[in-house]
Amino acid sequence: FKVFKYDKVNSTNIVSHNLAKNGQNNFIVMANTQTDGKGRLNRSWASEEGGLYLSIVLDISKFEEIAHSNFIASLSVLTTLKEFSSSFNTSDDINYSIKWPNDILLNNCKICGILSELNIKENYIVIGIGVNLNNSLGNIDNDCSYKAISLNQMFENTEKEQIDKNLFLTRLLSNFTNYLTMNSDDLINNYKLNSETLNKNVKIILKDSELTGKVVNIDFNGLYLDTNSDLGIKLIEVGDCIHLR
Ligand code: BTN
Repeated sequence: FKVFKYDKVNSTNIVSHNLAKNGQNNFIVMANTQTDGKGRLNRSWASEEGGLYLSIVLDISKFEEIAHSNFIASLSVLTTLKEFSSSFNTSDDINYSIKWPNDILLNNCKICGILSELNIKENYIVIGIGVNLNNSLGNIDNDCSYKAISLNQMFENTEKEQIDKNLFLTRLLSNFTNYLTMNSDDLINNYKLNSETLNKNVKIILKDSELTGKVVNIDFNGLYLDTNSDLGIKLIEVGDCIHLR
């Protein structure tokens, strides 16, 4: 992967689309801050200095399983976070998990968000990843029911050092490359093992309705919600998911 590094951009996703349209493919865009960071479902993503803001752009004409990309991205971040945490001395219980579709939680606080944007016509996908590393405020929307946390904040009491962002990126890309070659079954099983959402009672907020129920399965098509009603089991492809208990 070729890496384009910037100090300040509007959004690494926007920069990625521009570069892709100008003929680049299979590259990374990274920035120290973003002035117009984008979140899922038209939200914004606060992007102050200290966080990791990057987009991975893949040529999808050579990449069969586009639906895999969110799973690959969330598992690579999760694995990288686990690697970094194991180097801290702490007696605290550290639990990383994935909230559907691809938020990474650290003890149920949001530490990473992922926004993928597909351009089918021009054959590429932009996978935007924001990880709270050294930023202390965290990135949170007012309507997000999960508190945000950064890795540095979590380990503040035991380690005063800043997380090395370049090392984090190197490890992340290496994990990403490994997950890219993983077969579908292993990928989904790995995801499910780390899912915070599977088997939970959740509320799904759709465009103009809401559904509640128990999540009975997750696969590349989406989340399967047992609505305990005439609707039976519903496949949810996109939506906002709130864990109930
Ligand atoms: C979410 O809503 O949870 C997804 C947030 C994704 C944020 C990242 S930061 C790097 C990339 N550039 C953006 O503008 N957004 C993504």
